[in-house]
Amino acid sequence: MSSTQPLNQLNPPARTVASTQSEMTEIILPNDTNTLGNLLGGRLMHFIDLTGAMAAYRHSRTHVVTAAMDHIDFIAPVHLGDLLTLKSSVNRAFATSMEVGVKVWAENTRNASVAHVASAYLVFVAIDEQGRRQKVPQLLPETPNEIRRYEDALRRREHRETEGARRKEARHAVTAQETAAAIEP
Ligand SMILES: CC(C)(COP(=O)(O)OP(=O)(O)OC[C@H]1O[C@@H](n2cnc3c(N)ncnc32)[C@H](O)[C@@H]1OP(=O)(O)O)[C@@H](O)C(=O)NCCC(=O)NCCS
Repeated sequence: MSSTQPLNQLNPPARTVASTQSEMTEIILPNDTNTLGNLLGGRLMHFIDLTGAMAAYRHSRTHVVTAAMDHIDFIAPVHLGDLLTLKSSVNRAFATSMEVGVKVWAENTRNASVAHVASAYLVFVAIDEQGRRQKVPQLLPETPNEIRRYEDALRRREHRETEGARRKEARHAVTAQETAAAIEP
């Protein structure tokens, strides 16, 4: 999927956070639930991925792939029959990647109570039809909340990079040990 070709496109014009805002509503049906009648975590992650991708599509106006889904908080269970609402927007755009935040609420249709049940951050990478990475527009945060999320997104990116490098090192160490074990007489 990735490409080593240089990115020589010009930066497209910047876009606002509002122009990326996306929303999806789902009713939770028996196929979505576990044996206790609660929404499956994997199904919730699927809804989060889809809603996150909508914001990334609106920002980049090209194809996107999910590079990472990190820091999901499952705050409260979602029950059969609940209405799930997911809202997403781009927090920050980098060169070819975008961090998107997704927040999820569940509404009990009988008593109309609404609870915040999950939040997540995802990174999407813009690509063209041939899988070559594409430059994305920069993001213009306008409100105090948008500016806070924009600044926090940079800190999370730095943390992801540090963690990614640590995991890569650990993988190399395991591979070296396995290779050594395989060639031992
Ligand atoms: C995501 C992918 C395109 C990155 O390709 P790559 O050659 O590793 O790219 P690079 O390391 O040069 O990074 C490209 C961008 O992705 C970001 N990125 C790559 N891996 C990442 C990760 N694990 N977490 C967060 N960001 C990541 C980089 O920070 C960089 O961002 P920038 O251009 O804005 O600075 C590639 O790994 C891929 O295709 N993965 C599979 C995606 C997929 O199938 N997803 C599930 C289904 S949609």
